[in-house]
Amino acid sequence: MGKPKALVTRPLFPAARAILDQNFDVEYWTRPERIPRAELLKRVAEKDALVVLLTEKVDDELLSAAPKLRLVATVSVGYDNIDLPACTRRKVIATNTPGVLDETTADFAWTLLMAIARRLVEGDEWIRMGTWPGWDLDQLLGGDVWGKTLGVIGFGRIGRGVARRAQGFQMRVLYHDQARQPADVETELRAEFVGLDHLLHEADFVTLHVPLLPETRHLISKSALEKMKPTAYLINTSRGPVVDEAALAEALEAKKIAGAALDVYEQEPKVHPALLGRKDVILAPHIASATVDTRTKMAVMAATNAASLFEGRRPPNALNADAIGL
Ligand code: DGY
Repeated sequence: MGKPKALVTRPLFPAARAILDQNFDVEYWTRPERIPRAELLKRVAEKDALVVLLTEKVDDELLSAAPKLRLVATVSVGYDNIDLPACTRRKVIATNTPGVLDETTADFAWTLLMAIARRLVEGDEWIRMGTWPGWDLDQLLGGDVWGKTLGVIGFGRIGRGVARRAQGFQMRVLYHDQARQPADVETELRAEFVGLDHLLHEADFVTLHVPLLPETRHLISKSALEKMKPTAYLINTSRGPVVDEAALAEALEAKKIAGAALDVYEQEPKVHPALLGRKDVILAPHIASATVDTRTKMAVMAATNAASLFEGRRPPNALNADAIGL
């Protein structure tokens, strides 16, 4: 009997390809542009497994086009690109890549936090443009980080990683989530559980670490932004639609908050035009997990998830194995 057939929408990395090539008859999409939707639907037709990036939507339409599909593995921890109930209905196992990107993403939330507070990108632009007039006392004055209050919304592994780093800056840490952490975690991270409004009112830095769900879409709305301090900064490394970009642009224009640093956008790769020209915003291209080590681990994890099912094992990061009864 031949190997199961897999479609992989990027060439990934050699370590991940080695796992896939050993276990599947693999078709990789290798062209530099993203796989067009029509190609994806056509190529997935006879496949048993599909490995995708977060840019590919796995929905009813795709699942209907792939009647033999038994598994879809996304190379991301967020899986809002996958219609999980639709997969479950069709008994398609879906997997993601949790855990391996937490510290790298927490590092990057801090990269954004420091850079926006200390106006690093504006300063870099001065130097490159040749417009720096030389040192002066009141140039590019930013906000202090040390000793300030960090507000973490979403206190999962990444949010907790961001909070842990705050200890080095002697910050007060407030967090908000659906559930409160056990006392030992709060003590270790010196973090205080508060309501959302309380956090928005008190924090000097609000950093977002929630998944994209119906209840987190536009969590940072006009009214949420109005609750923040005029000296506060917003950091988003979670998912773009958690922030209402139009409301954010208006809040910045009205000086309701001091600045924002974003890695994710409502309609990637588009960014709300009102944010593009602003100096009080840093715009990163969804790179919070983008280190060689971490992206390699994510790809290997996705490949391992895919291979496991066809070796007769439950994929380690299956999202709907119980629901399917695997
Ligand atoms: C994810 O994994 O969900 C990130 O957005 C990309 O690493």
